[in-house]
Amino acid sequence: MRATCFGYGALRYNSGFGHNSMSNLIVLGSQWGDEGKGKIVDLFSEKFDVVARYQGGHNAGHTVIVKDQRFVLKLIPSGVLHPGVKVVIGNGVVVDPLALLEEIAMLEKAGVDVRGQIAISNRCHVIFPFHRMVEKVSEAREDRQAIGTTSRGIGPCYEDKIGRRGIRMGDLLNTPIFDALYDMLAEDKATTAKAFGIANDLHLEEIRALYKQMAERIRPLVCDTAKLLNDAIGRGQRVMFEGAQGTMLDIDHGTYPFVTSSSAAAGGACTGTGVAPTKIDGILGVSKAYITRVGAGPFPSEDFTEAGERIRQAGREFGSVTGRPRRCGWFDVPLLRYTAMVNGFDSLIITKLDVLDGLEEIKVCTGYRVHGEVTDEMPAENALMEKVEAVYEMVPGWPDSPTAGVTSYEALPRQAQDYIAYLEAKTGVEVGCVSTGPERNQTIVRAGSKMEKLLDLA
Ligand code: IMP
Repeated sequence: MRATCFGYGALRYNSGFGHNSMSNLIVLGSQWGDEGKGKIVDLFSEKFDVVARYQGGHNAGHTVIVKDQRFVLKLIPSGVLHPGVKVVIGNGVVVDPLALLEEIAMLEKAGVDVRGQIAISNRCHVIFPFHRMVEKVSEAREDRQAIGTTSRGIGPCYEDKIGRRGIRMGDLLNTPIFDALYDMLAEDKATTAKAFGIANDLHLEEIRALYKQMAERIRPLVCDTAKLLNDAIGRGQRVMFEGAQGTMLDIDHGTYPFVTSSSAAAGGACTGTGVAPTKIDGILGVSKAYITRVGAGPFPSEDFTEAGERIRQAGREFGSVTGRPRRCGWFDVPLLRYTAMVNGFDSLIITKLDVLDGLEEIKVCTGYRVHGEVTDEMPAENALMEKVEAVYEMVPGWPDSPTAGVTSYEALPRQAQDYIAYLEAKTGVEVGCVSTGPERNQTIVRAGSKMEKLLDLA
């Protein structure tokens, strides 16, 4: 079977007349956010005019390697590494201006024209240092279960958003309005700080001054991005919506309360950008050939044995934002079926297949045993989810013929192709793309797949 191999600069998008209008895609993680989306989004970006983030903040960590240079992007969509691609930080994202300016400076140093490419929504909520303070206090409380957050102030900023007392990017740029809103929010945080005996750590007036300074540097980048995106779509341009975190960290559909505070699932792409569901043409899920998770919370197929440690070392599984070792385990079919349902995946991208090289056998979780009963449904309650025991099947590995760096589907060992076919059969979702290493050209899009059509590669 023929397959398309991506090389650096190998893909060119077709804009203008004759452009395929079936083209606005959401790309998001199928599990807990470390699916290797960074490389995929970066690679696919070549085919799009605009790449938009719709939720989360600088808690995300997308690692992209371009010509031996390693970039960890936390807030800015990785599409920025492609000259000419517009990148958007949508209204659903929460922005820490300091983190944003630092990331811009890092990219500018590497020669990227960030300011020429980026647009930030005037409806984004702004993260302040006191959001980190609130998070620290709440994670440390003995009467609460720690979520193991990234300590970036993400959750408390979303709390203020939902509590209708948050400050949006547009407000930050309007001094009298900012001052009034800031006074109200600061009072709120001062009360919290007082209650926890840390009032002296709050430097409210310094923060105000700093934010006003930063606002001036960000001002030229801020606009109504819902309008920008809808205008772009109206002109026939292609937009990719880049999910951060992953479906199981979604505030509604994930393993609540061990989730992030935003709508990471596909539905969030619409609310988080102001682009209607009718404008979305396809949804691509990303999963590793195994599974990892950082932070606390249920993980039915986690492997605590040497095998899990082997995956951690072979896959270099350490969080790109916090450096924490990732928890490692096996592909989980019930979980994937659930995330395919809530997102409506058209096709799957399986990353890091090469990490399984050398294994005689591969474990796959095919069911959950809950209170003695085997089910393939995802329990909603944390109390039940914690009790789930994974039921496994063993699948032959490919101990003697590595997949690392393989660039065509036919050249993959037979057992690796069988593993992919097995995942497709069990999950009911096509695997349209396989990644066999960190480089761009170590990515195979399967000929005849739905993914190939959606990416306009056919
Ligand atoms: P928060 O997003 O910092 O509030 O953290 C909530 C949970 O989401 C914690 O378990 C984090 O480890 C996890 N998390 C947040 N962002 C990411 C990410 O980009 N990848 C993987 N896990 C994440």
